[in-house]
Amino acid sequence: MRSVITGSGHYLPAQRLTNAMLEQRVDTSDQWIVERTGIRERRIAGATETPASMGVAAARQALQAASLSADQLDLIVVATTSGERAFPSVACDIQAALTSNNIPAFDVAAACSGFIFALSVADQYIRSGTYQRVLVIGTDALSRLCHPDDRNTLILFGDGAGAVVLEAGQQGGILSTHLHSAGEFADLLGVQHPKRHEPEALSEAWMYMKGSEVFKVAVSKLSELVQETLAANQLDASDLDWLVPHQANMRIISATAKKLKLPMQQVVTTLDYTGNTSAASVPIALDVAIREGKIQRGHKLLLEAFGGGFAWGSAFIEY
Ligand code: UT7
Repeated sequence: MRSVITGSGHYLPAQRLTNAMLEQRVDTSDQWIVERTGIRERRIAGATETPASMGVAAARQALQAASLSADQLDLIVVATTSGERAFPSVACDIQAALTSNNIPAFDVAAACSGFIFALSVADQYIRSGTYQRVLVIGTDALSRLCHPDDRNTLILFGDGAGAVVLEAGQQGGILSTHLHSAGEFADLLGVQHPKRHEPEALSEAWMYMKGSEVFKVAVSKLSELVQETLAANQLDASDLDWLVPHQANMRIISATAKKLKLPMQQVVTTLDYTGNTSAASVPIALDVAIREGKIQRGHKLLLEAFGGGFAWGSAFIEY
């Protein structure tokens, strides 16, 4: 049994944060941000928006595209690391908004690679025959975790959500997923939870990132990962129709495309207007390319992501 993507959707908040606006807040410039990252603006969740509400909006689009009602779902898996609460999970909030059926709903935490990890979890349930229809969502509001004075992180992160409906099918679909983690890199990228038992440490509850060190590991691990994915499927990069990468930095994306010798016309990019939306990044890029008619049925897709943990992963999909 294979997991076939039968619908996809995404949601971006209306509020824009441009490079020019960031120039007013911290010591940076539009030119530096564009040259070093490729990002021109990002969307920021409004006061009443949450990872759950954005996830619901993306999910409704995906369900509509799949011509499915939420009551027909067997499982909801949500990739996020920015939920409003430690518990209940964002997945439970999303389930409550979509259906009164008591289907299982849970979160997967793998930072920017969360969607790939969630996709892999969902795929195992479908392959084993346990479930037939699974909603997979990546949703994050990482802009809220960036210190308002930290130009390091502020310029990179935006908010949003993306979703796919997976249904059991005989042909195509997810052909393989590849996941890796390396917890020893925890001090290069992360966010502390507020320590309620140490109120004086509350000020440490912001994202920290050693950008250039993250960059180097990301480029090297992603290059190994795409080769691993192709080898596992006995493919050559020329067999791919699209690379759908995590939208973190245009230079990381270009390095991965170069490793694959894939022209940039076959690489889906949204980061110039989304920034890095963490777990939402890959499903937003996927849905945008599907809705623009670039990705079509039968196309071979390589999805990949790298982020905090470190955790990185890929999926090879015949759409
Ligand atoms: O999803 C995974 C999460 N994170 C990532 O993937 C992040 C990966 N890393 C990156 O994308 C890049 O490392 C950054 C965009 C964060 C930084 O780019 P970089 O080319 O690695 O810059 P750098 O940190 O090596 O700094 C180069 C220069 C420094 O100045 P000097 O020492 O050369 O005078 C920095 O002080 O750029 C300066 N700089 C900035 N200037 C303007 C650093 N940040 C900024 C900034 N605006 N925001």
